[in-house]
Amino acid sequence: MSVTVRVPAKVNVQLAVGAARPDGFHDLANVFLAVGLYDEVTVTPADELRVTCEGPDAAEVPLDRTNLAARAAIALAARRGIEPAVHIHIAKDIPVAGGMAGGSADGAGALLACNTLWGAAASRAELLAICAELGSDVPFSLVGGAALGIGRGEQLTALETGGTFHWVFAMAERGLSTPAVFREFDRLAQGRQIPEPVASPDLLEALAKGDVEALAGAVSNDLQPAALSLFPELADTLEAGRGAGALATLVSGSGPTTAFLAPGAESAEKVAAALRASGTCRSVRTAAGPVAGATVL
Ligand code: C5P
Repeated sequence: MSVTVRVPAKVNVQLAVGAARPDGFHDLANVFLAVGLYDEVTVTPADELRVTCEGPDAAEVPLDRTNLAARAAIALAARRGIEPAVHIHIAKDIPVAGGMAGGSADGAGALLACNTLWGAAASRAELLAICAELGSDVPFSLVGGAALGIGRGEQLTALETGGTFHWVFAMAERGLSTPAVFREFDRLAQGRQIPEPVASPDLLEALAKGDVEALAGAVSNDLQPAALSLFPELADTLEAGRGAGALATLVSGSGPTTAFLAPGAESAEKVAAALRASGTCRSVRTAAGPVAGATVL
């Protein structure tokens, strides 16, 4: 018997970053939107824990116990006093090290899949607690939709959305490490007073109304200068998308994936075609959101 869970990628429509905390993390006001690009995580009973991965970026995915999917299985098994004896297979479509929560998606997916396979009966609250231990973005991968994350991003409040938003994502030639981007944020922030991160009321209203023009005017990412500082060529990709009619352009999370908000599905395809032709990125995808979080298939 196997269990398969489908988990979406995310884009941060707002990422407000506060000063570094004593524990090294940063307080955030993080507005997540789940978009329809998915990893599928399948768990099957096995003699011992094993992780395999397929997909265009599979070679870059660690298959040892650092993989968030493996860590999720270990964490749930430890709570039940059982062995994490599963084969976890990841069919990966979310870009690796892209700022779209691909690793977090696999963690949330493996957790939900193991909970189902083992009949471990973890409540939603227990699953969310384990997700928060695994990483700041993992709880959102479980719940999906749209949500505001505060604290280090893991304390979620669901947000209302009044429509579907159409996005184009440009994958970069190489990855960026999230800790490195936060370190660069700290370096660039030296000597400056960093305000408390707060969610933008205009942005929340735009999401609630499904107003794409208003959303375009309200998106922001405080990590963008740090990502651009480490990866200056991303400015060319952003420029190519803007020139092709995107209403808003931004780096997704800690990057280096760049995100382009389009007025509709058709214009998203036009922006995607222009980005492909621009030669400024490795590959281009379109996806709409919000979509549901981790779901057992
Ligand atoms: O929580 P997660 O493991 O996803 O975080 C990865 C890294 O990103 C952390 O080690 C930290 O360097 C940085 N981070 C941060 N503040 C946050 C979330 C992540 O500094 N709120």
